[in-house]
Amino acid sequence: MSEERKKLTLTGLFKKAAEGKPITWLTCYDYPTAYFQEQAGVDMILVGDSLGMTMLGYDSTLPVSMDDMIRHSQAVRRGAPNTFIVGDMPYMSYQPSNEIAIKNAGRFMAEAGCDCIKLEGGESMVERIRAIVAAGIPVVGHLGLTPQSVSALGGFKLQGKTAEAALRIIEDAKLLEKAGAFMVLLEMVPDRVCKIITERARDCLIMSLGSGPDAHGQLLIYHDAFALYPNFKPRMAKVFADAGSVIRAGLESYVKEVTEKTFPQPENWFKMADEEYDELVMKLK
Ligand code: KIV
Repeated sequence: MSEERKKLTLTGLFKKAAEGKPITWLTCYDYPTAYFQEQAGVDMILVGDSLGMTMLGYDSTLPVSMDDMIRHSQAVRRGAPNTFIVGDMPYMSYQPSNEIAIKNAGRFMAEAGCDCIKLEGGESMVERIRAIVAAGIPVVGHLGLTPQSVSALGGFKLQGKTAEAALRIIEDAKLLEKAGAFMVLLEMVPDRVCKIITERARDCLIMSLGSGPDAHGQLLIYHDAFALYPNFKPRMAKVFADAGSVIRAGLESYVKEVTEKTFPQPENWFKMADEEYDELVMKLK
């Protein structure tokens, strides 16, 4: 990729899908990773509330606040000025009312320079999506395994396994599209259900996270794809590079070299001119 690329817009995303080119999407939570993702040509970044687990060490996404999300989104925008960035609405930042949802969605746009927001949920979120879209903010919906409702869903597991459950997801996807969501993410939904939803989508892009190859594009959690999250590795996540092992080995070398006094070497420190040093010694006497 070249140093600077043209800013990818919503129109650009639809154009890519119309040309049959899969959209690439990764989570990201910090400046250097955002820089590398943009350099690598990633189309979209999700500043996900998964940062509660991957970056802050909570055991769920629920404790994440709007201020956490804004701070990380700002860092990501600084690192990836020309990438389409999705700000993820954290738990209870949109559920209570349309007014609260619009206000918090607006913070992602005004304070962090995001291109749109994402929220979780089906039919019950139709009213919220309408209100946020009417306020001029593009919305991504999220169906299937929705981590903010993981207790209600009975854990991190496949959703829409039965015909009845699949039908509900298919209907929800249509409702979100009709409410104005320009994109719907399907997380851990069976591949054939994802295919049906993608084929039926008209003004809406469908993205897959563990839901098969037939969507308009793919999302992965960055920490899963690069083995940076020590607590578990979901089956759907391919490890594209084992950065975790590289970092661990580097850390062990650092500890060893400092312990054995082989680090630092002269090229790692700074010297003072002899005459300045001699003068310093004189002054100290
Ligand atoms: O927060 C996040 O990263 C997400 C993904 C799990 C889709 O919402």
